[in-house]
Amino acid sequence: MFITLEGSEGAGKSTLIESLKKYFLNNNIEFIFTKEPGATEEGAELRKLLLDKTIELDPISETFLLLADRIEHVKKIINPALEENKNVLSDRYLDSTYAYQGAGRKINKEELDKLIKPLKFPVPDLTIYLDLPVEEGLNRAKGRDGLDRFEEEEIDFFERIRNSYLKLAKKDSKRIVTIDSTKSEKEVFELAKKYIEKKLNES
Ligand code: TYD
Repeated sequence: MFITLEGSEGAGKSTLIESLKKYFLNNNIEFIFTKEPGATEEGAELRKLLLDKTIELDPISETFLLLADRIEHVKKIINPALEENKNVLSDRYLDSTYAYQGAGRKINKEELDKLIKPLKFPVPDLTIYLDLPVEEGLNRAKGRDGLDRFEEEEIDFFERIRNSYLKLAKKDSKRIVTIDSTKSEKEVFELAKKYIEKKLNES
């Protein structure tokens, strides 16, 4: 089972992941938790470049770095786990690229498809998208120290990302479920747990 978690800045992914980790552990459900960018040793180097705000990257170079990270991630972590029938939960994956590089950095979908499709990345069985109004997310994220290269962007950038996620979720409603992240942490966790358990029971 391959599950991904998506959302923009401050949407509460980290908090949800902590609750899910505890829940799976207490209930003996084995899950491999991973993330993008930077889950592999090679990816960690790429992540440094991607988040470094002193570096200016063309959107296409940025995309290539993210895809290089994903190639390593899929080859070294995701595919080996799925081949052994293990459950994998990735904090960000493919949809992040369509939302951030596609809508955010304005690379059109056809162009992104041309770069991504030949790489044959596995498609998640379930994607949970945590949706939050942009202002609220940025206010939550501001509380943390130091903004990275993405967090520094203007509000319009994040509005485009949110709209893109909402559109992706509408178009691919079989795979992507949206959770309203203005709900309490507990409610968000209960909903995510319900969606994940439903998928686990289906398989
Ligand atoms: P990270 O610190 O992991 O942030 P978050 O808690 O928001 O997940 O930073 C990852 C950043 O990389 C995040 O701002 C989104 C961006 N990103 C893309 O732009 N495209 C992608 O395909 C992925 C995987 C991440």
